[in-house]
Amino acid sequence: MRIKMKITMLPGDGVGPEVCREAVRVLKTLNHYYDCDFQFDEKPIGGAAIREHDNPLPDATLQACLKSDAVFLGAVGAPEFDHLSSQLRPEAGLLRLRTALGGFANLRPAISYPAIADCSPLRESRVKGADVLTVRELLGGMYFSEPRGFGPERESAFNTMRYTIPEIERVARVAFDLARTRRKIVTSVDKANVLETSQLWRNTVNAVAQEYPDVKLDHMYVDACAMHLITTPTRFDVLLTENLFGDILSDESAAITGSLGMLGSATIGGKVNLYEPVHGSAPDIAGKGIANPLGAIASAAMLLRHSADMPQEADDLEEAINDVLEAGHRTADLIEPIKTALAAKRHLASTSEMGKQVERAFAARLDGRFAYHAV
Ligand code: IPM
Ligand code: MN
Repeated sequence: MRIKMKITMLPGDGVGPEVCREAVRVLKTLNHYYDCDFQFDEKPIGGAAIREHDNPLPDATLQACLKSDAVFLGAVGAPEFDHLSSQLRPEAGLLRLRTALGGFANLRPAISYPAIADCSPLRESRVKGADVLTVRELLGGMYFSEPRGFGPERESAFNTMRYTIPEIERVARVAFDLARTRRKIVTSVDKANVLETSQLWRNTVNAVAQEYPDVKLDHMYVDACAMHLITTPTRFDVLLTENLFGDILSDESAAITGSLGMLGSATIGGKVNLYEPVHGSAPDIAGKGIANPLGAIASAAMLLRHSADMPQEADDLEEAINDVLEAGHRTADLIEPIKTALAAKRHLASTSEMGKQVERAFAARLDGRFAYHAV
């Protein structure tokens, strides 16, 4: 198999660079097995770019991203820029990048791994078997709609939530298509008892559902969904949400897995797909070598599936993550919540040790695949 990919790496702020390094390490494992040419080109974004270029998304970064086969981002955000207006903050760079790349469907899987079920604040009996895929609309709603701003003297402020039928249809189709590859249930989240945008959302999703008679569609108000996600996460398969609801619910879904550091994401549907762990820059632990790289590595697996057309290798990498957890390796975020004697039996791993463990487990899975083909 010959694979050539230009990947623009945007390490960004805080723990971003540390976790990106591990994702790159793991992707490079493939070079030993295939005729691979993964080219990684690093560019500044977020606070790192503001410091160097006074701009959270310098033009050189944006152009490199637009010319690449995939973009991989670490995290953006740093407390030193908290005082800046929303268009100048590190986060603005990411939001502008998302718009320019055009990916409108943000996939955020949250899985309960048996090996770390004890990290979840939820009772094991409740999370066992949970596997929720949030499909978050990423380019519309309150994040981008106009008008927005402050009123006179900054004594008031306003944002707008706006959606069009085509914006809802396209993301709904992604959710239904993905549901077909899973348990065939879509739960569409809205606040149709209050918001007009949600009424449009619900009607449009109902219309799209006609094209998918084999998929079961439920509707749920966002407040109820926030509760059911915690009390009965196993009832969900694909969760379809608008932008802001998805931002909130996908962080909440991390409670199913046990740590926000575990979650990866893919943004698809535009010119270039974007991969990023769901966690933020975590400035409090940055530079200490203790961040969990598994969210970034899970994002790399999604890159293999959605951009490199390597679905089997994506599965292998996801299984490698599970293998490493099963073997007892844990970054600090996966040990601290456990207060039992069991915690003492875990091997505390640094960010890079964890990356190396996944690299090894991934290679073992690939070895298995090649040995099988050789027979
Ligand atoms: C996320 C983040 C971003 C968002 C921020 C950093 C702009 O919270 O990817 O979930 O709100 O979308
Ligand atoms: Mn978020």
